[in-house]
Amino acid sequence: MPTPEHLILRELLAHDPGWVSGAALATKLGVSRVAVWQHVEKLRAAGFTFEAQRARGYRLAAKPSSPHAALIETQLKVRPRCFSLLVLDETDSTNDEASRQLGAGRTAPFAVLARRQTKGRGRLGRAWHSEANGNLYLSVAFRPRVSPERMGAFTLWMGLNVCELLANFAKVSPGLKWPNDILFDGRKAGGILTEARIDSDQIRDLVFGLGLNINSSAAGWPTDLGQRAISLAEVTGAPLDFNRLTAALIGRIFLAYQKFVDGDYTRTFADLWHRYDILRGREIAVLEGGRRHAGTVAGLDDEGALLLRDARGRTQRYRAGEVSLEKSPR
Ligand code: BTN
Repeated sequence: MPTPEHLILRELLAHDPGWVSGAALATKLGVSRVAVWQHVEKLRAAGFTFEAQRARGYRLAAKPSSPHAALIETQLKVRPRCFSLLVLDETDSTNDEASRQLGAGRTAPFAVLARRQTKGRGRLGRAWHSEANGNLYLSVAFRPRVSPERMGAFTLWMGLNVCELLANFAKVSPGLKWPNDILFDGRKAGGILTEARIDSDQIRDLVFGLGLNINSSAAGWPTDLGQRAISLAEVTGAPLDFNRLTAALIGRIFLAYQKFVDGDYTRTFADLWHRYDILRGREIAVLEGGRRHAGTVAGLDDEGALLLRDARGRTQRYRAGEVSLEKSPR
């Protein structure tokens, strides 16, 4: 159900950078012009800047750079039925918050976003640096009711879709490093943590977690991370519209999820893999369970496992692990 703030934002965004008269907004909302002004003041307090002129009305001058629920919802082009969005100032981990909400019976799909996380988590038990620095901490929760065997390539497929969305949205050239890293020129801008609860033969619920460096600056990272991490703003040279990008990402995540559970993704997967995979033919090592396996990347199997040709010409299959690049591509 749209609130007055949603309706005002919808009108102003539809006319941006033009003006919308106070009278037109009052008619749209079915309230007085004074009430419109009060709602505009509420939006101002949440980080919006408006120009207001008696003769012309209101115009959007600046949008908040941190997550804003109504602004994201207003800009969502894809919105499943019953979708809800939870925007928090702070939480331990948006994946954990999404799991708690699922456990409490919240209708899925829904998304949880936080400005900062106090216990952001990455793969392999690692911490995910999660300050309030203009970066995205997002989890989207689903109840897929499909067998776990069908979900093998899910994280890879979603990572490819995130790469494609970023390439189109920001005119950048991301790469996907198996299994879940989004990179620019060898530096990590994003990672995915998918977690599922499984009943005997079905996935009961699934949380897709995405951490994406959007507007942070290199100066703000701890030193060790500073050399390995990069943000989209650093790649493009300018800050990005956080809420518009977040809305576009959530829309893409829904579409990609639906295609995946419908089983309608294999051909597109191959195309996207060809475009964004950065490991093809590379000499790498996979660290798995404390052991290091070196070889040349020979592709993927149907379940998204990485195929590696070792020095003896044997092909080994890895479902999980950490990849390090041995040599630069020729
Ligand atoms: C990785 O590269 O190891 C995956 C990082 C995933 C981080 C995101 S941030 C939003 C969600 N909440 C978490 O605690 N983790 C994921």
